[in-house]
Amino acid sequence: MDIKLKKVNAISGVIEVPADKSITHRAVILSSLAEGNSVIRNYLSSDDCNRTIEAFRQMGAEIKIDKSNLYVKGIGLKLSKPQNSRYDIYAGNSGTTTRLLAGILAGQDFETVITGDASLSKRPMRRIIDPLSEMGAKIKSENGLLPLTIKGHAPLKSVNYVNNKSSGQVKSAVLFAGLYADGVTTYTEPVKSRDHSERMLKAFGADIKIDGNSVAICPTGKLISQDITVPGDISSAAFFIAAALIVPGSNLTIKNVGVNPTRDGFLEILKRMGADITLTNMREVSHEPVCDIIVKYSKLKAANVDACLVPRMVDEIPIFVLVATQAESITRVSGAKELRVKESDRIYSVASQFKKLGAQVESLDDGFIINGAGGIKFTGTLLDSFEDHRIAMTLAIASLIAGGETVIKDSNCVDVSFPGFYETLRDICK
Ligand code: S3P
Repeated sequence: MDIKLKKVNAISGVIEVPADKSITHRAVILSSLAEGNSVIRNYLSSDDCNRTIEAFRQMGAEIKIDKSNLYVKGIGLKLSKPQNSRYDIYAGNSGTTTRLLAGILAGQDFETVITGDASLSKRPMRRIIDPLSEMGAKIKSENGLLPLTIKGHAPLKSVNYVNNKSSGQVKSAVLFAGLYADGVTTYTEPVKSRDHSERMLKAFGADIKIDGNSVAICPTGKLISQDITVPGDISSAAFFIAAALIVPGSNLTIKNVGVNPTRDGFLEILKRMGADITLTNMREVSHEPVCDIIVKYSKLKAANVDACLVPRMVDEIPIFVLVATQAESITRVSGAKELRVKESDRIYSVASQFKKLGAQVESLDDGFIINGAGGIKFTGTLLDSFEDHRIAMTLAIASLIAGGETVIKDSNCVDVSFPGFYETLRDICK
């Protein structure tokens, strides 16, 4: 489905964004593996999270949906082999479902096949195949791609795994596999990636110790059910933060946003650029920091993003590039090669579509050089989302400052993380 969008006069209002995708996946996984009944309040009902819910239902968890809450009757760490589908588990577009689940399937005493859509089938899985194989799982895959056939092993061998890349998904896969190991598993990464798994494992009673960029998990044989409330997703809020910053005269409040320090790189870089952003009503909800964010239109300076900051804003880089096109001078993004293997090659997607709008964005092997020149004017045109939710939303926000009409192809892919995105956008456009 194509969507047509037009330049707006200002952005204003008070909104909430949908629940955090990463936290929802983890809450569904750990509640299913726990003993007893868990509640997940304000879960994200999106295509990606629904894939994780479906997978655990197939493996024996009872998951009931009541409005925005999930009621989960866990089955404990030992799951049942999926019965009711030709390919066992279909992960759709969801890299998180695939990689996190692989860690758990590695510790089961049955064989499972995971498949996905065309985009997921091109994404690299060697990163989880290697550590999980080292732990004793037998994983079949052609060229490190889906379908993955995972034959678990119980118990798994505990390992001391050092990753030279930061990845919340790989870390979670190894830590989850560590629940099934014969001793303490440690995982070390160069820059701390999102730590939702560590926080939630601790809440569910796992024995987990954190030492800088290393995490150690000691299996205790069981997890204990919890009552979890999921905050709004900073990665979804980022699109509206950007909109308010670049559309003159804007003033927007986004309530109930998770601001975990491993996810707040976008806010940090924007503040360095001179953005008028205030975090208020700071509180802790289910072991995660949460606040309300007030954003006003701002004149921005350029600022560089490097490999140390990328893990803290990896999903926000496409929308950051848009903000940088409206800053004073040249911004460089480096150390972001991972963007090449996201739901689309995001370096190519962003550079090619921004060029069509008239922006000066040059792609690098691992990032971008963006010439803002104090706010390059855009002209609306036909743009391709590459069926990538974050590209579609970035282009939709770009259209708010583009003269004429912008048309975005395959715009409904936003449902992967943000159902209702265009409706929320329409409500705040003046
Ligand atoms: C995620 C980790 C990140 C992120 C993805 C969600 C997670 O991926 O891009 O959208 O929930 O752990 P990587 O682990 O590949 O960095």
